[in-house]
Amino acid sequence: MKRKIQVGILGFGTVGSGVLRILKQHESKIKQITGEELNVKKVLVRNVEKKRGEFSEGIELTTNAADILMDEDIDIVVEVMGSIVQAKDYISQALKAGKHVVTANKDLIALHGNELVALANDYQCDLYYEASVAGGIPILRTIVDSLASDHIQKVFGIVNGTTNFMLSKMTNNNDTYEEALQKAQELGFAENDPTNDVDGIDAARKMVILTRLAFGMNVELEQIETRGIRDIQLADIEMAKRLGYRIKLIGAAIEKDNSVRVDVGPVLVPEDHPLAGVQNENNAVFVVGAAVGETMFYGPGAGALPTATSVVSDLITVAKNIGLGTTGTVFNSYQHETNLTEDKDVESKYYMAIDMQDQTGQFLELTKIFNESDVGFDQIIQQPFSKASAKVVIVTHRMNKAQQNRIINDLKKAEGMNLLVCFKVMEGK
Ligand code: NAP
Ligand code: HSE
Repeated sequence: MKRKIQVGILGFGTVGSGVLRILKQHESKIKQITGEELNVKKVLVRNVEKKRGEFSEGIELTTNAADILMDEDIDIVVEVMGSIVQAKDYISQALKAGKHVVTANKDLIALHGNELVALANDYQCDLYYEASVAGGIPILRTIVDSLASDHIQKVFGIVNGTTNFMLSKMTNNNDTYEEALQKAQELGFAENDPTNDVDGIDAARKMVILTRLAFGMNVELEQIETRGIRDIQLADIEMAKRLGYRIKLIGAAIEKDNSVRVDVGPVLVPEDHPLAGVQNENNAVFVVGAAVGETMFYGPGAGALPTATSVVSDLITVAKNIGLGTTGTVFNSYQHETNLTEDKDVESKYYMAIDMQDQTGQFLELTKIFNESDVGFDQIIQQPFSKASAKVVIVTHRMNKAQQNRIINDLKKAEGMNLLVCFKVMEGK
């Protein structure tokens, strides 16, 4: 009799429970596609007493990882527990024991992906991580397979569900930052420690993975200018609306002359741009190729079932590979020398909000600062801020990073001027 493919799962939280549900509910389709029966043999948890719902029935729970990693019957390990050090250790042990691995862990793949891919290769095992970027959107496979023939020039978009959910609630419902974060946590979108979400680190890690796959380049996290959404005030959201924009947390990796620039931060997106309409936990990634032009991929970027869809699709790929005897081929084999684009070659328009002493001559000082860096204004609004000061909001013309740095330094030195925020402005209006 044909043996079932045995699966061990590390983690039974938001994503793990979605994986078990999909495996159960779509069992017959999965069997038809793979020609194999997938059986979840054991699941690793911290607390075996916790109630796990209907999809835990008949499944052995364990708190000892070795029960899965050392079980010779288990063919595939699914890591959906999170963390970096422990997950890396467990995945390494699984690969060394000849087990194929599927993971949703972007933190681990961004930081140690190359090392784990090499290890998987050494042990002729599969290692897939589609769910690590943009949850339910099959963006990694699209870049690696469907766009393999093209020269990718840009990858940018909304890659963090939590912050997009929060910004949507702040923009549409006037929720405070704290109210919006609490809702995102209750819905299971946020990481255990939401710092990584709100400070842009989660998005930066996803951009590391996207950059590796799209451009074959290995950009370190420290090389990505990363800003989160903590600085965004409801007043900025309102001002952006008045100027015809929506504020979104955008990750961008842009290639120029064989170099790449990657950044993450709040961006004013024109209200008629498709990214401006992406609401709640949804993500959207634009991939621009020299041949294909502009493509956009949209869908839920976080949550149990969307993320589990990607995890189970990876499982299906591994099961098919096992059936065909083709395991051990790397997910992405494209590599290119890593070059970073210089500041002088990176250009954008910016939104700057400045708290300025309301006195004669101050405006002249402000225009001088911009003039000295050869930067002009596209839009400008002044309104009272307090009794003695005014808030001046500027949308600049295009400038490079060197000009931007100089203006920021000059504003810091100027008396009676305080730069409140400086966000990129996306063009296209
Ligand atoms: P979660 O809800 O916190 O679940 C984590 C699970 O792992 C829990 O079942 C927990 O056990 C178990 N666990 C954690 N540490 C453990 C340890 N040291 N030993 C044994 N069991 C341990 O997390 P999640 O939201 O499902 O996220 C899992 C992974 O998927 C993370 O890497 C995350 O970044 C990634 N991801 C999540 C989403 C999402 O929308 N949530 C989307 C894409 C990717 P107990 O249940 O006993 O506490
Ligand atoms: N915390 C992540 C997010 C989960 O909100 O996008 C999906 O990776």
